[in-house]
Amino acid sequence: MQGSSSIRPATGKLGILTPGLGAVATTFMAGVESVRRGHSKPIGSLTQMATIRLGKRTENRSPLIKEFVPLAKLDDIVFGAWDPIPDDAYTAAKKAGVLEERDLEPVADFLKAIKPMPAVFDNHYVTRITGENVKKGKTKRDLAEQLRQDIREFKAKNKCDRIVIVWCASTEIFIKPGPQHATVEQFEKAMERNDEAISPAMLYAWAAIMEGVPYCNGAPNLAVDTPALQQLANEKGVPISGKDFKTGQTWMKTVIAPGLKARMLGLAGWYSTNILGNRDGEVLDDPQSFKTKEESKLSVLHTILQPEQYPVLYKDFSHVVRINYYPPRGDNKEGWDNIDIVGWMGYPMQIKINFLCRDSILAAPIVLDLALFSDFAQRAGLKGIQEWLSFYYKSPMAAPGLQPEHDLFIQQTKLKNTLRHLMGEEQITHLGLEYYQA
Ligand SMILES: NC(=O)c1ccc[n+]([C@@H]2O[C@H](COP(=O)([O-])OP(=O)(O)OC[C@H]3O[C@@H](n4cnc5c(N)ncnc54)[C@H](O)[C@@H]3O)[C@@H](O)[C@H]2O)c1
Repeated sequence: MQGSSSIRPATGKLGILTPGLGAVATTFMAGVESVRRGHSKPIGSLTQMATIRLGKRTENRSPLIKEFVPLAKLDDIVFGAWDPIPDDAYTAAKKAGVLEERDLEPVADFLKAIKPMPAVFDNHYVTRITGENVKKGKTKRDLAEQLRQDIREFKAKNKCDRIVIVWCASTEIFIKPGPQHATVEQFEKAMERNDEAISPAMLYAWAAIMEGVPYCNGAPNLAVDTPALQQLANEKGVPISGKDFKTGQTWMKTVIAPGLKARMLGLAGWYSTNILGNRDGEVLDDPQSFKTKEESKLSVLHTILQPEQYPVLYKDFSHVVRINYYPPRGDNKEGWDNIDIVGWMGYPMQIKINFLCRDSILAAPIVLDLALFSDFAQRAGLKGIQEWLSFYYKSPMAAPGLQPEHDLFIQQTKLKNTLRHLMGEEQITHLGLEYYQA
């Protein structure tokens, strides 16, 4: 049993670095600063707003998570980023069009001071973006070494005690895991010979792990989800997690699907379509980038509904996901879900969901929580894949041979029980047997 006494305290400054300074990253940074200045509330963030029940119900112990667990304080966070587009965070936020002037202007000075470091970027992996703020190097290994240097310099310059990296950059093209990703040795050789199977996202992940920095992957790119980098993370004692922030439509799926299954209602089909007009939408308009996203979105229903175990209810349901780039909407996505369900004696019913969501508004608190929890995990001595952070991901990484858990409520229980366990508290099973037993 892990005792809370073995957890290193959150002293000093925590640097949060994001590859990518676009809609999500700038909304996250502007929001944290706005909360720090007392202008906003951190809505959507478990680390800032959620409570956790401890002990028996009769004990009435439900502290805030941030009071129970030693997390870094918002005031102790410093931000940095890499991006091939040289805009500072203020300009990038304005272009992203998520936050309104009344929210951006009061933190403009702070955002203008965040200027992206030159990125490791290659048009081959993200075709719809061009930028000149890009590193040069003979080999991919050279480039990754430059990222390591950036991390060290950022840490020293900002007098940080610890660093966490959260990938908030574009979705790369689909890459199948191959022998280049099988072991650390093969991965490093592949970097040295500029193998095409090694994408920029993997270089950031490698650099982070080599520097002992936890890495969270907000996009569906393979990145850290390879045996090589998992092995490296275990060897170096670094927590890693991914993939793809669970916002919008997929989050809804992981709420609704467990509800259908809990009541043993069948599913004939689930059709999801979206329109969005931000840069992410433009990148996803490229079929190669969309394929990466599609894989991440499609896996969800299958693992929750387990058609092999419930063939009568879930065998051969059809699942279609579409994303259409539609510029007038900007970051304000609209999603439609049509769900064909099956009830008693096979009678069909339909559920329609029309979700007018703001992608980056949903993603920003996830970035914050992942950064704070990953930093905490490292101080608590955890390493490798952090399955307890599956709660935040569309396509959660799981240990080899294990099915990822997609059900939001199981994920939430796992997250809270992990915190209880690490802090030396009893896990809660909701059994409440004392109530029925005489
Ligand atoms: N917003 C959401 O709800 C949500 C949910 C899940 C996943 N995501 C993912 O998060 C990522 C960010 O989304 P966004 O809306 O901020 O997109 P965005 O296009 O506004 O920002 C992405 C930024 O990454 C930069 N970039 C691209 N390649 C890079 C590289 N190699 N190194 C450094 N920077 C690079 C781009 O120049 C751009 O500024 C996307 O991959 C998206 O798919 C977003």
